[in-house]
Amino acid sequence: MLNLPLQQFKAFSEDQPWLSLFFFAVGSLSIARVVYQSVVVLFQTFVVPGTSLNRYGARKGAWAVVTGASDGIGKEFSFQLAKAGFNVLLVARNPELLKSTAQDIEQKYSSVSTKVHSIDFSKDDEAAYSGFAAALNGLDIGVLVNNVGKSHNMPANFVETPRDEIKDIVSINVNATLRVTYEILPGMVQRKRGLILNIGSFAGAIPSPMLATYSGTKAFLATWTSALAEEVKKDNVTVEHVNTYFVVSKLSKIRKPSLFIPTPASYVRAVLSKIGLACGAAFGPIPSTSTPFWAHALMHYGITLINSPKLFIDYTHGLHKDIRRRALKKLEREAKAQ
Ligand SMILES: NC(=O)c1ccc[n+]([C@@H]2O[C@H](COP(=O)([O-])OP(=O)(O)OC[C@H]3O[C@@H](n4cnc5c(N)ncnc54)[C@H](OP(=O)(O)O)[C@@H]3O)[C@@H](O)[C@H]2O)c1
Repeated sequence: MLNLPLQQFKAFSEDQPWLSLFFFAVGSLSIARVVYQSVVVLFQTFVVPGTSLNRYGARKGAWAVVTGASDGIGKEFSFQLAKAGFNVLLVARNPELLKSTAQDIEQKYSSVSTKVHSIDFSKDDEAAYSGFAAALNGLDIGVLVNNVGKSHNMPANFVETPRDEIKDIVSINVNATLRVTYEILPGMVQRKRGLILNIGSFAGAIPSPMLATYSGTKAFLATWTSALAEEVKKDNVTVEHVNTYFVVSKLSKIRKPSLFIPTPASYVRAVLSKIGLACGAAFGPIPSTSTPFWAHALMHYGITLINSPKLFIDYTHGLHKDIRRRALKKLEREAKAQ
């Protein structure tokens, strides 16, 4: 009984030798392709080092500009770029937090200078952007990390999302990235050296129901990065969209790290050690995206292999319905307790 498929296969290959050879060749090529792609992803993620930060001016007086630099991932970028030998301009809203973070950096890395600039990106204020441009005057900027980002307070259907929340997400995730880059990129092109990292999210790669605006803004980053990267490649400027799953932070509301959810320190270490390597995004649909943290890389590659967006959209929708239900219950409990 067990031998039946084998017998059928034998009979088929005797009847149709060319057709069976064709199927065999197609099957072998498909397997070879998956093996090759897996080896590339594993090699980039676990073995090969990325481009050295020295190429972008580390230890030569160059500056790194980090938006959203006073907390979470941005704060960690500021510390690790200082450690690598960049002076750092920290940008966010709260001036006190910016100053204390900058002081901590200078105390820890005495050869590094810092500057701070306070701006609220949600305001879309042209005068504030002029002030920001003035703060950049005379700086040799080697690295820009477009890290600032805002997500929804809780998952909600688009029409139930507060108008202000939608506006702020677009202003911070899209407009600020465009405006900040617009001020900094010309200098990089002139100096023929630069690195721009745009911090994205899995919500951009997988359309995320009930976080639709956040998801759309992060998808924008992937496409915009890819187009821009091609424009400035000739000028020795690297532009990279960094795809990110959960990281411990205020934004994610996750406090404990786990296998798939790193601390900002481990996450940023992975990003800075894999510049120029796509890792988990190596065979994804949009060039110039990288998924460098190992667990996120394997997840991203797995999603690419499965190649069934609908499956992940359905899963994400279910997850967000559940998160909203629990968030509303929590609000109800808190209201009762008052
Ligand atoms: N954490 C995750 O799980 C995760 C996953 C995927 C992608 N990401 C992306 O990673 C990036 C950083 O996220 P995070 O988790 O590190 O966030 P976070 O811990 O909430 O830190 C946000 C930083 O941005 C600043 N900021 C917030 N609103 C601002 C505004 N309107 N104008 C100027 N600065 C503002 C904050 O300082 P002030 O409040 O003082 O302004 C703070 O320095 C975001 O782009 C996010 O989308 C994060």
